[in-house]
Amino acid sequence: MDFTKHKEILEKLKMTLTPERYEHSIGVAEEAVRLAETFGADVEKACLAGLLHDCAKCFPKEKLLDIVVKNRDIWAIDECELLNYKTFHAPAGVQVAEREYGITDKEILSAIRWHTLGKKNMSLLEKIIYLADKIEKRTRPIEYREQIERFLDTENGLDRAILESYKLTIKSLAERNLVICYPTIDIYNNLLKEFY
Ligand SMILES: [Fe+2]
Ligand SMILES: [Fe+2]
Repeated sequence: MDFTKHKEILEKLKMTLTPERYEHSIGVAEEAVRLAETFGADVEKACLAGLLHDCAKCFPKEKLLDIVVKNRDIWAIDECELLNYKTFHAPAGVQVAEREYGITDKEILSAIRWHTLGKKNMSLLEKIIYLADKIEKRTRPIEYREQIERFLDTENGLDRAILESYKLTIKSLAERNLVICYPTIDIYNNLLKEFY
């Protein structure tokens, strides 16, 4: 895929992300573009949101916590998001995308905001970035991706694939004795109603 027009973004990302995270971000942009073409979303927005979704991922934990706490109300930070610092980069990424990358588009910023936890009734772009993050082809293992991708060509394929990814996330959290956030269960239940 040709990212020439995003050269500046790529250079900045390369300086702030680890090599693996950088590769993953390119992968998410590529996958987001594919999904946008298939499901009729704005391809350019999908590309930008994909590139930038993890733009705050490699910031120090203290810096992320500071941004998140200051913006707690604006970004509707859930209690459980505050318990796991790994989720901080999603809301913090909104501020970084705005201030460091000059993104003003609300749909792109919202897709960055919700890419880790997801939420009920996501917009098409939010769904695409949520899913592209799970199934990009550069760093996600094929055995994992295939379990989700096989649903994409079925009826309501995007939602069906997202439901599957929630199922796998919940299973894996439970197997590792990790806490499952209420919103995660709530989103899963909500999606389940669509199909069963
Ligand atoms: Fe992320
Ligand atoms: Fe990611």
